[in-house]
Amino acid sequence: MSDNLISRRNVIKGAAAATAASALAPLASAVESPGFRRMTQSPNDKLVLGLIGCGGMGASNMRSLMEFNDVEVAALCDVDANRIPGDFKTVKDKYGKDPAVYGDYRRILDRKDIDAVIVGSPDHWHALHFIHSCEAGKDSYCEKPLSHNLVETVSMAGAQQRFKRVVQVGTWQRSSKEFTDAINYIRAGKLGKVVKCHCWISDSFRAGRQKPVDPPKGLDYDAWVGPARFEPYQQNRCHWNWRWFWNYGGGMTTDWGVHMMDIALLGMSKGQNLVMPKHVSAYGGKWSILDDDRTAPDLTEAIYHFEDPHPWVLQWSVGRGEPGKPGHCTEFWSEDGKVLRVWRGGWLILGADGKEIPKTEYAGVGNHWRNFVDCVKSREMPRSDLRSVAQTTAVCHLANIALNSGRQVEWDNANWDIKTREAKSVEQYKRSYRKPYRLPMYSPA
Ligand SMILES: NC(=O)c1ccc[n+]([C@@H]2O[C@H](COP(=O)([O-])OP(=O)(O)OC[C@H]3O[C@@H](n4cnc5c(N)ncnc54)[C@H](O)[C@@H]3O)[C@@H](O)[C@H]2O)c1
Repeated sequence: MSDNLISRRNVIKGAAAATAASALAPLASAVESPGFRRMTQSPNDKLVLGLIGCGGMGASNMRSLMEFNDVEVAALCDVDANRIPGDFKTVKDKYGKDPAVYGDYRRILDRKDIDAVIVGSPDHWHALHFIHSCEAGKDSYCEKPLSHNLVETVSMAGAQQRFKRVVQVGTWQRSSKEFTDAINYIRAGKLGKVVKCHCWISDSFRAGRQKPVDPPKGLDYDAWVGPARFEPYQQNRCHWNWRWFWNYGGGMTTDWGVHMMDIALLGMSKGQNLVMPKHVSAYGGKWSILDDDRTAPDLTEAIYHFEDPHPWVLQWSVGRGEPGKPGHCTEFWSEDGKVLRVWRGGWLILGADGKEIPKTEYAGVGNHWRNFVDCVKSREMPRSDLRSVAQTTAVCHLANIALNSGRQVEWDNANWDIKTREAKSVEQYKRSYRKPYRLPMYSPA
């Protein structure tokens, strides 16, 4: 079933070409394309999709998108053949025909009949999957957090801009009513002047101890590792578990920070162009979960200082959570002691006396996945536009950069970079790609 074409020769060819133009699509036509050119723009035209990364959240997104009559899934890709059959059946049952199956995502990008891709791979692969998709003229529904490190994030924002792609990121809380109500309430000034936000995620995940073994049959493990540092296969750092390892992700600070800090940043901003911090400091480590292979910290406290729209601080906490409160949360604190608390499934406002204050209901914004399809057709900016979520992702990486460099990090907003040169040596700023992989660099204006 799988067609594992990520041979050394193919990747060198693709990556080298990507720096100049691309082996995958003619650069000029992608730039000139208004997008979705293949369609005649009738409302009944089908958006044809390919999925990169099966079995997990990518498949969940695919199922959400398959609910719409104007969407069709034509191709599935995974480097692990064992992850494909479930999604294959879902697609076949729905459309009555077999989707194409690939082991190399570039075969999806080669296809002119595919308009857009779902990027559902682990974080260490997002930058290449996404940037190569842009170069091939594909729009995308790209999972969060956008990237493994800051430099990848910046290049992704640059590629989106360069190739004029419509991109919805999987930060679906932006379409969920409790969060949009809370953001509307804050933006309307109803809580008063907000001087602090506190966001957190509870994390007590244990990966356990394992010894390297042979990868399971059907998994092209070398392709799974991709641009990351090569480590021998262990099940506890492969599918789904990778998020607790620095080599593949940023721990809970990127995995959940991008959801919860996104809400704080949106509340403090006027629109999708987010307010960005001036400085961040962070402390923490792998302090509680000791006899375990995970490398990402089980405790992180980061403090960000903002000057926009007025001085305020953002506190980000990864740890054991707060007893009696939701395990994940965003809180807005007003200068006079009121707190607005929002989490998946609810929100409330507390007065300085601890008593609940009545809320205001606002109109919802509609389905996140439908918003993607509509925006691909209209070429409007989706609710979780990549550039905006790149700002949130950068905020998350800043905490990890501060933590691992031991420096207070200063953000250079005009240049999408950090001013703190000493902090640039950590992998959360930039990583060396394992040969022959190579990150194409694009700069956002
Ligand atoms: N938006 C959300 O609420 C939400 C929830 C969960 C996960 N996610 C995100 O979704 C992404 C996937 O997470 P997951 O938990 O489903 O991971 P997972 O490990 O369960 O699934 C990822 C799949 O991608 C495949 N893959 C790896 N490299 C590939 C390559 N080069 N080409 C094609 N396929 C490749 C893997 O083999 C695996 O089947 C992550 O970025 C994660 O942060 C988002």
